[in-house]
Amino acid sequence: MATALVTGPTAGIGRAFADKLALEGYDLVLVARDEERLKDVAAEITKLHGVACEVLAADLTDPEQLAVVERRFADGPIEVLVNNAGFGQKKPFWANTIEQEEQQLDLLVRVVLRLTHAAVLPMIERGSGAVVNVSSVAGFVPRGTYAAHKAWVTSFSSGLAIELHAKGVAVMALAPGFVHTEFHARMGMDKSSIPSFMWLDATDLVDEAWKDLMQGKAVSVPSWRYKLIVAGARFIPRSLIARVSTLGLDGRRRG
Ligand SMILES: NC(=O)c1ccc[n+]([C@@H]2O[C@H](COP(=O)([O-])OP(=O)(O)OC[C@H]3O[C@@H](n4cnc5c(N)ncnc54)[C@H](OP(=O)(O)O)[C@@H]3O)[C@@H](O)[C@H]2O)c1
Repeated sequence: MATALVTGPTAGIGRAFADKLALEGYDLVLVARDEERLKDVAAEITKLHGVACEVLAADLTDPEQLAVVERRFADGPIEVLVNNAGFGQKKPFWANTIEQEEQQLDLLVRVVLRLTHAAVLPMIERGSGAVVNVSSVAGFVPRGTYAAHKAWVTSFSSGLAIELHAKGVAVMALAPGFVHTEFHARMGMDKSSIPSFMWLDATDLVDEAWKDLMQGKAVSVPSWRYKLIVAGARFIPRSLIARVSTLGLDGRRRG
């Protein structure tokens, strides 16, 4: 049976990916920090879908723990990698410590770079495989360092998709809008300021992303409303984008 590795599968979008991949018949390697929670998710998924789940507890921002996850790609074939683990900062760049900023840069960029590198080499040798890098629609608008990191994820993934297509390896950036997960509570964000029509369901998001991956898309923007927002973003005045992009954020950011 084919195997998929998902980072951040204990909640939100990562959990929806783990369920989708299990439904598609993949055995799973599940990577996150909280080992007990990982084991619970693994047991649940095995019970629900009858696939094998391997638990790899790691803080991906720790270089040594990241190296253990990278080595997993050499230990046995991984056909699908979902680089999903991530977090946001409530405060603006200047109000965070440089260590907090570097931790975010590490998880959203460095980890994606290194795990993609570890994954695609054996995929190229086998002539098959897929990498989904979870980005964000935030990457299409100016919204601090988080948006800058996600812009990198989208640019990196869509460029690599073109280069690896002929080698039988699919790469796709998934750019969600607001999704109901633990993300906003973890960053202490006030969700009430975001209109209800802007929220997406993680399972629907992943179903649409999976269809896009199967169709060979390099960038997936699930739901018509976010497709419109992304298409229109370049025509909307930057002042309006800046105002909308402060929704739910720390007051200091609204200036
Ligand atoms: N929710 C949204 O509105 C939204 C929108 C656009 C993009 N995204 C992106 O979607 C991805 C998933 O977000 P989500 O909303 O599903 O978040 P979530 O519900 O908060 O889940 C985050 C997952 O990542 C894991 N994780 C966090 N830090 C980690 C670390 N240092 N090492 C290993 N695992 C770590 C968490 O497990 P542990 O805490 O146990 O490590 C958890 O499983 C992120 O890349 C996020 O930027 C989210």
